[in-house]
Amino acid sequence: MTDSNSPVPYGDDASADFDHEDSNRSSNRHFNDILTTQLKRRQLLKGGLGLAVAGGLFAHAGWLGAAPPHASGKPGLGHGFPGKPGRPIELGFTAIAASRVDDIVVPPEYTFDVILPWGTPILGDYPAYLDGGHNSGVDQEQQIGMHHDGMHYFPLSPSPVHGSRHGLLVMNHEYIDQRAMHASGPTLVDGVRDADEVRKEIAAHGVSVVEIREHRGRWEVVRGRFNRRVTAATPMEIRGPARSHVKMRTAYSPDGTRTRGTHNNCAHGFTPWGTYLTCEENFAGYYVNRGERPREHGRYGVATGNGRYRWETVEPRYDATPGIGEATSDFRNEPNTQGWITEINPFRPGSTPVKHTAMGRFAHEGIVFAKPGPGRPLVAYMGDDAQNEYIYKYVSRENYIPGRAGSHLLDDGTLYAARFNDDGHGEWLPLDIDDAGFRAAADAAGVAFSDQGDVVINARLAADVAGATPMDRPEWGAVDPNNGWVYFTLTNNSQRGNSSEVDEANPRGPNPYGHIIRFLEDGGRHDSATFTWDIFLLSGTESDSLGPDGNPLTADNIHASPDGLWFDANGLLWIQTDMSGSQLASGPFGNNQMLVANPATGQIKRFLSGPNVCEVTGVVATPDHRTLFVNIQHPGEGGGGSSWPGNVLRPRSATVVVRRRDGGIVGT
Ligand code: FEO
Ligand code: CA
Ligand code: CA
Repeated sequence: MTDSNSPVPYGDDASADFDHEDSNRSSNRHFNDILTTQLKRRQLLKGGLGLAVAGGLFAHAGWLGAAPPHASGKPGLGHGFPGKPGRPIELGFTAIAASRVDDIVVPPEYTFDVILPWGTPILGDYPAYLDGGHNSGVDQEQQIGMHHDGMHYFPLSPSPVHGSRHGLLVMNHEYIDQRAMHASGPTLVDGVRDADEVRKEIAAHGVSVVEIREHRGRWEVVRGRFNRRVTAATPMEIRGPARSHVKMRTAYSPDGTRTRGTHNNCAHGFTPWGTYLTCEENFAGYYVNRGERPREHGRYGVATGNGRYRWETVEPRYDATPGIGEATSDFRNEPNTQGWITEINPFRPGSTPVKHTAMGRFAHEGIVFAKPGPGRPLVAYMGDDAQNEYIYKYVSRENYIPGRAGSHLLDDGTLYAARFNDDGHGEWLPLDIDDAGFRAAADAAGVAFSDQGDVVINARLAADVAGATPMDRPEWGAVDPNNGWVYFTLTNNSQRGNSSEVDEANPRGPNPYGHIIRFLEDGGRHDSATFTWDIFLLSGTESDSLGPDGNPLTADNIHASPDGLWFDANGLLWIQTDMSGSQLASGPFGNNQMLVANPATGQIKRFLSGPNVCEVTGVVATPDHRTLFVNIQHPGEGGGGSSWPGNVLRPRSATVVVRRRDGGIVGT
């Protein structure tokens, strides 16, 4: 760092709590006595679940959510799973111990390679990565971004064999480590950031689309036409109820139909028609408003002093302070164009990404679709990762018709927020200006919404007035392909018991370790208005936890702060942890890790451990389930003692390729 001997402030929100904001001051609070009734109800629900599955209410086996079109536009088969349906699955690998090794650790039956570290050239001139932060902003625009997160694999062949050796890996880059990024930065001179550093930082955000192929046992980058970087500067279209809204109009887009960039892309989703969805999580702190903050800023945590990386000193769009003229003369509405679900077609590298506003504006962690039922609405589940925020569901207005489904289904539908009642049942509360109950609740709360655009822009406020249940930081969701249960990680909540009371769905106050909740839609339909819920596990130590089998966790599977969550084709649940910024990094859990659980048997084992001070996040398999891709984010963040994956000067986020030594199906 330079500049008058003063360290560069990392913005208002540079503390470890940047991602944990508790801006929910609504009065949705529930009271209860915690675990005893919870455990009793679990036993009751087990019986209920058996009936539901035996009755065939959810015929989901085999659906993996992706039958993506490949390059020719024909439907790819993609995900044929070679296992035998109905056969009990054993987690046959040897559980690894909690680890403090500055490397990837996998079971002895497995092996791994590292690919696509930050800075890998994928485009244009293919500028080589230079250790020590010596690449320029232009270089970064042609290289893999920083801080890998959610990702999906799109096979490039409909053949499960060939499609499992050649595909597009699409991944998010959530944020950056400024100290690792620059040779001697971050630089601030007379209160202004260095322009090329900012260009590089903006380019290190967003999404990478990269064609990869297995060649002689190694996965390598293909210099193909699909390779693309979408960044925090890429032009994007706004669709849905907030398109053209008065609160979306900016000097860049006076008619409120476009914006630039996607920010803090955490987890992801993928559509049944073969596109990628990137989710904009902690976008608010990138912007600053030093004037009066409207609810669209205050409820989301737009900064009041300096932006997170002080990009506003170089790029005017990050300064959302209202000027004296019309909104179209400045960028006061710019933060309203962020916090959405954004769709990218990886097979069309020239296409403009689309922000789908019907699915609400909040700190989107991820999105996961229920198996689409022909002739039924399309349903997706989403979490808002901040303390005491909500779980949401989107139900399309039009029905899903195979072959005719497309992104229009994401632009017209109903957004719901979840209320988890203490009796083990729950309700989906419509956030819909045309719903009489919602309007009455808003009136009773003294909150006015001008139209549905106003509702989705202020989705958190809408969920407040509807009476949704504040949760312990909802992260990833996953839908069990065998029975339709929907799982969500609730990573932790230091404010539970303080700014929010404990309840049955969030039973620990404070909640330092997190838990995983799950629910089953009533009537076997994902568009149901009600559901039945249960706690799948309480993360924590051997003396303060509850495993999926009803017993405490053991040395083979203790963990904290569950975050990434993914069901593979055979119904194994992959759980990734992120203890970043918490004191648990020195606790009994070792480095961040990935576990595998079998909900059908209650078995759970630790599968992978990451290098020092990393987050393990992002997981997907090839269609044959013999290759697993796992992302490692921010090893050694903030100088945290990592040189992974073997660089002298700068640790690098990267993707890990994990395979069984015998070539078998991963996880088994
Ligand atoms: Fe970006 Fe909520 O993890
Ligand atoms: Ca996450
Ligand atoms: Ca997290």
